[in-house]
Amino acid sequence: MTSSTGIGPTLQALADLLRREAARGVESMAISHENLQRLGQLSLPKKMRSAQRSPSTPPAATPTPPTQPSGAPASPAQAPISIPTTSFPSILSSPPISDESSRRDALNALYRQLKSATAPRELGTLHDTIVFATGDPMASIVFVGEAPGEEEEKLKKPFVGPAGQKLDQILKAMEMARNHVYISNIVKFRPKIGDGRFQGSRNRAPSQEEMATCLPFLHRELEIVRPKVIVALGRTAAEGLLDRGGSLASFRNTVHDFAGIPVIVTYHPSYLLRQESGPPAEARQSKRFVWEDMLKVMELAELPISAKQRSYFQ
Ligand code: URA
Repeated sequence: MTSSTGIGPTLQALADLLRREAARGVESMAISHENLQRLGQLSLPKKMRSAQRSPSTPPAATPTPPTQPSGAPASPAQAPISIPTTSFPSILSSPPISDESSRRDALNALYRQLKSATAPRELGTLHDTIVFATGDPMASIVFVGEAPGEEEEKLKKPFVGPAGQKLDQILKAMEMARNHVYISNIVKFRPKIGDGRFQGSRNRAPSQEEMATCLPFLHRELEIVRPKVIVALGRTAAEGLLDRGGSLASFRNTVHDFAGIPVIVTYHPSYLLRQESGPPAEARQSKRFVWEDMLKVMELAELPISAKQRSYFQ
């Protein structure tokens, strides 16, 4: 298994988040001398070596100074630099929230913001019901799916249909339960097929446009929860979260990085369900791949792994 550790992912995360801030209209920002020096040192080969981390030791999300409102005078300790198309990642820009009730409050506030968000609704391609997230705001593992389906929309909770039952089985094998992890989706509304009126139980993957309108909410959730590891369930979730295209196979077997948090990409539980009605050897192979990914997730989350768990597929 290869691991995208070191300077590359750090710079990639920085670039991704800077791009997102630019998309939000941020035109310039301030950076402290200290952090500016740190950035400068990133190009030194020695630093590059020391910046590498063990794949089993996730870095703590590093808070950076909050962005200065444009036009505000820079404090003497800060050198204003103009970065036209970039800014610092929002997930790194605020101090972590340490206690559970404050995290719940922050998530509730975010939910209220989503209720009045216009961008996803203006598309006209998503149903109205919000399906937000479920689980522990103190969780060390966050699972991210693509978008709710029919069952999720009915119960207003992610992963409560057949894919959710498969996810529960995976969690059980990890000796975890739903309330030990945090489960969310990139898109918070069920995507419509046609005008949505005659859709029945049919679901579809969200479009890039739909993901773009909801991603700021997921980013804020991740900023609040700050897990030790994020699991992207399926290609669509991986593309949305990592902000680039690719096949599931190309995303797997690498520890990706989202703003300093390791990301593991694995097969969507619905894929496992579909495989179950095909050749048994292929179904077993997919399950085995998912389990290998989950062992990596448990390592990154610093969870104990029993000999039995290690040998499930041996
Ligand atoms: N599939 C997803 O990606 N998310 C859900 O919540 C349910 C099914």
